[in-house]
Amino acid sequence: MNCKTFGAAVFVLATLLFNPGWAQDAPEVDRARTGGAQTLEDIMARQKQLEVDDSFRSENLGDPANAAGISEPLGTLGGRSDPDIWRAVRYNEIDPSTQVRGPAVDVLIQDGGMPWYKLREGPVITYGGGAILAIIILLAVFYFIRGKIRIDGGPAGTKIERFKAVERFGHWLLAGSFIVLALTGLLTLMGRSFLIPVIGQEAFSPLAIGSKWLHNNVAWAFMLGLVMTFVMWVAHNIPNKLDWHWIKSGGGIIGNAHPSAKKFNAGQKIVFWTVMILGFSVSLSGLSLLFPFQMPMFADTFGFINSILGTDLPTALAPHEEMQYANIWHSIVAFLMMVAIIAHIYIGTVGMEGAYDAMGNGQVDLEWARQHHDLWVDEVQAKQRKGESS
Ligand code: HEM
Repeated sequence: MNCKTFGAAVFVLATLLFNPGWAQDAPEVDRARTGGAQTLEDIMARQKQLEVDDSFRSENLGDPANAAGISEPLGTLGGRSDPDIWRAVRYNEIDPSTQVRGPAVDVLIQDGGMPWYKLREGPVITYGGGAILAIIILLAVFYFIRGKIRIDGGPAGTKIERFKAVERFGHWLLAGSFIVLALTGLLTLMGRSFLIPVIGQEAFSPLAIGSKWLHNNVAWAFMLGLVMTFVMWVAHNIPNKLDWHWIKSGGGIIGNAHPSAKKFNAGQKIVFWTVMILGFSVSLSGLSLLFPFQMPMFADTFGFINSILGTDLPTALAPHEEMQYANIWHSIVAFLMMVAIIAHIYIGTVGMEGAYDAMGNGQVDLEWARQHHDLWVDEVQAKQRKGESS
């Protein structure tokens, strides 16, 4: 599956999940008894979240051409009965003027709220939480089978500088903020289902308020960390032929080979680009949530995807729907990142002897460096020799 197809698949999946009625169409309804108006079967089908073709309502909005003359009874309705007008309100086919001023106030009814809520409380929590538990179990099993990746022949005892202070600062800014965001995000998403039943609403309230405050403000540190690490490391993360060789030999994680690598090996490049691409996307959807109705982006994105893939994603979205999509997308991307980062934290700590030092004090054992980044060691030592001789 190439990148575009994968992206489209994720989008289509999200759209399908968004509309729980996707699984089944509602059965045909005979509306002769109601003179074409909604029947009990229609209402029941909607409550079961089946896909109801309600064009019989959404297109039945009256016709100004039918207006009675001004001097005749009901002339002021202008060809539309009260039900016609309320249907127009219901389907957002009217251009109301409201006393309240502000963005999105002229949408009087928008019915994406329940599907959004059900998706967020249901599949997002189940699959997202499930993915986190699954990766933790998988890593525990992996650790049990493979054990810690040791330095063959033990450490050399001499050190080589792997990351400068500014690089480590950028990494920990990104990592620290991500961990705060992940914890407060999970609390916001799952608190209602898992914490309120245990600690009660009164105790949960300050937690939720604090969480929201932290999440909204720490996001800026994450974005700064993302930009810093991107700028400092992008040049070392451009894929090359060596990466293919590294992947083919299982990176030395599976098996005991030590495939050659420069500053970052293919596995780390995958982590880097996952963090950058998902981090950028989670930041964009996060900003759109932080500034409600100011940064709608899904209608345009769906339009773009439709134009490339010929899909039929919705492009006429009410401002509230934009927010609902932003919220669901934000959660999906955050979960993907959390899964990737848990694996990253594993390899940077318990999974590999000597790895943590790289981000701890910046100095790694020379033998570790030779085994995992031999070409980078050659480069550093060549530079040092050049520096000494000049
Ligand atoms: C307790 C948490 C974490 C630990 C212990 C940790 C550890 C490390 C270590 C040791 C390295 C350097 C590996 C090397 O020498 O080449 C590294 C690199 C990196 N870290 Fe982390 N990290 C943590 C959390 C995070 C988080 C939360 C993010 C992003 C959201 C992140 C993103 C990166 C990136 C992009 C790199 C460079 C690519 C790579 O080496 O995989 N790290 N981390």
